[in-house]
Amino acid sequence: MKIASIVGARPQFIKAAPVSREIRQHHEEILIHTGQHYDENMSDVFFQVLEIPPPNYNLGVGSSSHARQTADMMRGLEEPLEKEQVNFVLVYGDTNSTLAGALVAAKMGVPLGHVEAGLRSFNRKMPEEINRVVADHLSTLLFAPTETAVENLSREGITKGVHLVGDVMYDVALHSAQAARSREIVSKLGLRAGEYLLVTLHRPQNVDDRGTLASIVEALVQAGRPAVFPVHPRTRKNLEAFGLWEPLKAKVQAIDPVDYLDFLALLMSAGKVVTDSGGVQKEAYFFGIPCVTIRDETEWIETLEDGWNALVGTDTEDIVDAIERFNPAGTKSKSFGDGHAAERIARVLDKFV
Ligand code: UD1
Ligand code: UDP
Repeated sequence: MKIASIVGARPQFIKAAPVSREIRQHHEEILIHTGQHYDENMSDVFFQVLEIPPPNYNLGVGSSSHARQTADMMRGLEEPLEKEQVNFVLVYGDTNSTLAGALVAAKMGVPLGHVEAGLRSFNRKMPEEINRVVADHLSTLLFAPTETAVENLSREGITKGVHLVGDVMYDVALHSAQAARSREIVSKLGLRAGEYLLVTLHRPQNVDDRGTLASIVEALVQAGRPAVFPVHPRTRKNLEAFGLWEPLKAKVQAIDPVDYLDFLALLMSAGKVVTDSGGVQKEAYFFGIPCVTIRDETEWIETLEDGWNALVGTDTEDIVDAIERFNPAGTKSKSFGDGHAAERIARVLDKFV
């Protein structure tokens, strides 16, 4: 088959890496980058370190409002999909690139597959929730990472075409762990294994409102622990605009976003992770690093069930308390698969006619 994979944002490059490797064994892949993320350290570095083939098309849509960005992607996608006469479209996760890809494929009558189908936060204020729901309801094949995801789909009446394959992010993490271990970023930043916090933040509800962002920054300052914070460009812009950049920098190593291997290296040696990222919550779980999640709900409820993830919201005291006291122990029983999710996706596609 000729399969178009549509990606655009940092976590999608990571998710597409193992899938692309597998599907190229039996199919032709046309990789389309919408250009949603475009800074070198938000895009190109992932193609390099994960050895993803360069995109066949880059639509260069850049940043704008949701409607404009999604519309630009839809306009840009129609032509290459038509020209290439693809038999199948794959979309990943829950960004605006996912939504645009799903809508265009569905309107063009091209069968659609959704990698990471069935995730739900049950919070429609999150743009990602809208994107996921639409993508799932338009998909012919739904590649679910967990049993919870399969159940969520079933509750919405979607049972046909659903395949429980495991989590492709677990595939990448296992595949990359050894290479990450040889990275020297931890010592280069003067950090000591097991003693520092690794922080990431980028959700609009946490970083677009000054009061909320100030409350989180204050917690990092009060925690009084060594901390490294690769800062997402959305967050950097707001920290600067709200006058919070200098107070943060006084106590925390705020650095530019890093590539995937450096990030895994920082994560594997961290004492705790403090994050609002979907992917990072799971990576903390994969490697047994306690995770303090700055949100009120999570799609990845498996990470909560064995006690390795604490949902704390944005209150300063609650965050400081979790940083000080949250100490999970014991085994992690819930599975995100066996590291072969991408192979299963490729086998399902092999049989698709
Ligand atoms: C997007 C996704 C989110 C995902 C996140 C991963 C949507 C609605 N949101 O959020 O689900 O978790 O990516 O990181 O699709 N910017 C740059 N350089 C870049 C990219 C962004 O400076 O390369 C800045 C711009 O100021 C832009 C802002 O970051 O306005 C937000 O970027 P955008 O892609 O709209 O959303 P994210 O917050 O990155
Ligand atoms: N990540 C990275 N460098 C960074 C920060 C994060 O490589 O500086 C990776 C991280 O390992 C994870 C992914 O980016 O796999 C998560 O992306 P993000 O938090 O942007 O999006 P989300 O998962 O919340 O959609």
